[in-house]
Amino acid sequence: MPRDEHGNLVAGTVSPRRPIPASIPRPEYVGRAAPAPYDGDDIYTPEQVELIRESGRIAATAVELAGEAIRPGVRTDELDVIVHDYIVSQDAYPSTVGYRGFPKAVCTSINEVICHGIPDDTVLENGDIINIDVTAFKNGVHGDLSKTFIVGEARQEVVDLVDRTREAMNRGIKAVAPGRQINVIGRAIESYAKRFGYGVVRDYTGHGVGTAFHSGLIVPHYDAAPAFDQVMEVGMVFTIEPMLTMGTLEHPGAIAWDTWADDWTITTRDKALTAQFEHTLVVTERGADILTLP
Ligand code: MF3
Ligand code: CO
Ligand code: CO
Repeated sequence: MPRDEHGNLVAGTVSPRRPIPASIPRPEYVGRAAPAPYDGDDIYTPEQVELIRESGRIAATAVELAGEAIRPGVRTDELDVIVHDYIVSQDAYPSTVGYRGFPKAVCTSINEVICHGIPDDTVLENGDIINIDVTAFKNGVHGDLSKTFIVGEARQEVVDLVDRTREAMNRGIKAVAPGRQINVIGRAIESYAKRFGYGVVRDYTGHGVGTAFHSGLIVPHYDAAPAFDQVMEVGMVFTIEPMLTMGTLEHPGAIAWDTWADDWTITTRDKALTAQFEHTLVVTERGADILTLP
């Protein structure tokens, strides 16, 4: 079924949409083709930051619950039920449901899927890796994070890719400080990834988040200097979410990707494995404060 004869993923069957109680406030884009243009900035008051942290805590707890259920034999749409039901139980809205038509409460991105995989009847197999990306909306603000999990036991080079992708995100977070340019983040991530010959995805980036799911502020994960020279300020909120790919030593740097017919699922063109980690954070006087912890 949802693997071809080479073991590569193929689209499965997506189950019907799960309802969300009408009492839970929706983001403005739900029921529309696209979000309204965002004209605010990326700076939040301490009170607003605490609301983003509350949304982030709900999203992070949902990721942990999904992670506890991950094992060979589980379908990705079972993980969606766990995430969806937990977020709704917290009187929050799963931000991806109805975002530009995305149908589910979580992105489940397995193996060569870089991002935006749709939960369906795909069955997890021993040795797979799966990224769980969740965003929750409550009190008018979003919190967004993701983690990559190993299904059962994987080869050491796969474990290394996952561990080093987490470390790449953490190095990006440590590069955050007021007065620095946004492009220092990607410089830290790419210089670390390059040591291992990993590719860095360029066409999907970190982003401003808060009142808007994607504010328009872009946070590259590669060394984009002198571009992306916006100066970080205390109270600025955005994500850092590097996607690293295995191999491609002959073409380090930007990596090629394909989109499935579902218009969402993004895979590496060479089907190389890819991992991702994401946090939402606020810039503080001392560096960064992560807002997406359980
Ligand atoms: N959470 C993803 C991000 O990190 C966005 C998912 S949009 C979706 O920005 F529609 F694909 F769910
Ligand atoms: Co995300
Ligand atoms: Co994000």
